[in-house]
Amino acid sequence: MTIRNLSKSYVLNGRPFPVLDRVSHHVAAGEVLAIVGASGSGKTTLLRVIAGLEAADDGAVLIDDSPVHGVGADRAVVFQEPRLLPWLTVLDNIAFPLENRGATRAEARERARHYVGLVGLADFADALPAQLSGGMAQRVGIARALAVKPEILLLDEPFGALDAMTKLTLQDELSRIWREEKVTMILVTHDLEEAVYLADRVLILPREKGDSTREITVDLPRPRSRSEPRFVQLRAALLAAFGLH
Ligand SMILES: Nc1ncnc2c1ncn2[C@@H]1O[C@H](COP(=O)(O)OP(=O)(O)OP(=O)(O)O)[C@@H](O)[C@H]1O
Ligand SMILES: [Mg+2]
Repeated sequence: MTIRNLSKSYVLNGRPFPVLDRVSHHVAAGEVLAIVGASGSGKTTLLRVIAGLEAADDGAVLIDDSPVHGVGADRAVVFQEPRLLPWLTVLDNIAFPLENRGATRAEARERARHYVGLVGLADFADALPAQLSGGMAQRVGIARALAVKPEILLLDEPFGALDAMTKLTLQDELSRIWREEKVTMILVTHDLEEAVYLADRVLILPREKGDSTREITVDLPRPRSRSEPRFVQLRAALLAAFGLH
């Protein structure tokens, strides 16, 4: 996937307010890209443009060399809250988008069963969303997105609302799932350690408009350890990019 010269402004108090200013990047198939930046730096906007939920003012998102216009089956989004349908079981929440895309009910449920197992919720297939913890609900959101077999999985702060322990567990799960499914992932996160733990490269959006984006390559083998020296070093480098220690 290629992001080419993407610009977008919103209108604020009657004046254009630039959010993305000629952002360019390439993501190879099967790669994990993390997008980090200060609050308001345009991370969600960039992800929504890639998803096709919003149009850019200028520039393009290219997948296999064709420009993206609107949402498509090649991209699936996991939001910060799982957005499950409360009246459907876990299994049917995962099966529902598959049926919408033309699978028979039996096919959809069979595939949903695979993904409910992949995220470790086989025993909860018949539970309703209200019976799940926040972390479990987020796993369902991930299973639902993966079940449509997207080329690119887009995640916007998927673990942002979870407690610290659950977050670490789900980071491990996402790392394992990525190794099993080999899907291209674009992960927006506030959490710099999470970026170093999961990504091949980290794209840093500028704080000041007009500054350019920066990038850090995470050349660590997987599975990763959060305490090994090279990991700690890369995390420090990323913190330093924000003027933090
Ligand atoms: N629909 C909208 N209309 C007007 N302005 C918007 C809209 N969506 C976002 N913005 C503005 O664009 C800027 C970037 O917002 P965005 O949500 O992309 O930031 P973010 O990096 O995801 O922030 P956070 O880390 O807080 O989630 C913000 O200043 C926000 O006020
Ligand atoms: Mg955001």
